[in-house]
Amino acid sequence: MSDDLEILRQDVLSELAEAADLRAWDAIRVGTLGKSGRLTTLLKALGKMAPDERKARGVALNRLRDELTRAVEDRGKALEAAELEARLVAERVDVSLPPPPAQQGFIHPIARAVEEMTAIFGAMGFSVAEGPDIETDWHNFSALNTPDHHPARTDHDTFYLPPAPGLDVTRVLRTQTSGVQIRTMLAQKPPIRVICPGRTYRADHDATHSPMFHQCEGLVVGKGITLGHLKGCLIEFLRVFFDKPDLPVRFRSSYFPFTEPSMEVDIGWSRRTGEIGGGDDWLEVLGSGMVHARVLANCGLDPREWQGFAFGMGIERLTMLKNGIPDLRSFYESDIRWLRHYGSDPLAPALLHEGL
Ligand code: DAH
Repeated sequence: MSDDLEILRQDVLSELAEAADLRAWDAIRVGTLGKSGRLTTLLKALGKMAPDERKARGVALNRLRDELTRAVEDRGKALEAAELEARLVAERVDVSLPPPPAQQGFIHPIARAVEEMTAIFGAMGFSVAEGPDIETDWHNFSALNTPDHHPARTDHDTFYLPPAPGLDVTRVLRTQTSGVQIRTMLAQKPPIRVICPGRTYRADHDATHSPMFHQCEGLVVGKGITLGHLKGCLIEFLRVFFDKPDLPVRFRSSYFPFTEPSMEVDIGWSRRTGEIGGGDDWLEVLGSGMVHARVLANCGLDPREWQGFAFGMGIERLTMLKNGIPDLRSFYESDIRWLRHYGSDPLAPALLHEGL
């Protein structure tokens, strides 16, 4: 082999040996065997040589090309295997270990509040009931004794779905979880004790309203259920939820179509500092009342036999108060920094019933 070919051979073999990764390897491959690679250029030059010179040179060049092609392939395979091995080591996951703190996810405050409500009411014997987000206007309004002219039915507040062929009911995105009361009373016999957390929708958008938000409804139906049961249940819930055993709670008469009498529930707080339970001010937190006789009758229950109470609360609102979150819109922005601050540890479940 002539000197220049031997030098090329040595160069390529030592470059290949030094190539640390597939990128470097590919540069050598292209620079040697590619269209204008070093070896290819020499092969192309053969054509211009005198026939006798070309013969000897051609044999040597072809042999060198075979050797270098094999060397390039072998080195490529070795580097590929090494890179795969390194990735397997680097990306190894032990699924039996908790995630490292930097990668740990958080429970969203809404999901957390639902867990807490479920734990608190669960300890009082409630189970969780669910209903569809797309509801008939009968379940959402009529069965709940909401008159046809009630302002809540107007397009302004309610998202109506377009009529569906073959379906002669009007459908809405539910504006409240109260329709789940109706579904529950139709589906099961009393005594009933349920909470119904879920999404609700209204045409409203500002710092304290979102077109999609969450409510938690409650319904108790039994024999001899009184306002006293309602008050005891809600006072207990609010004191445990806000973790304030002496939280002042006030019941203020109000109006809802589906309850009679109806009451708004306020908790003590300080307008100046925002402290829950402190100060002389009152803050409305939920609506409640004794289930209206007409609602019981709409669900096939005889109001002379059965009585009940119901309540409904905005989950965002209670969560904002509890955690000092100023803007409702931040709940839905998926900002990881916000979630890190307000989210909770997924490995520490809500066990508030221990505090009841
Ligand atoms: N559905 C009412 C609302 O969205 C909240 C509510 C008030 C629910 C009183 C109830 C209740 O069950 O008894 O404003």
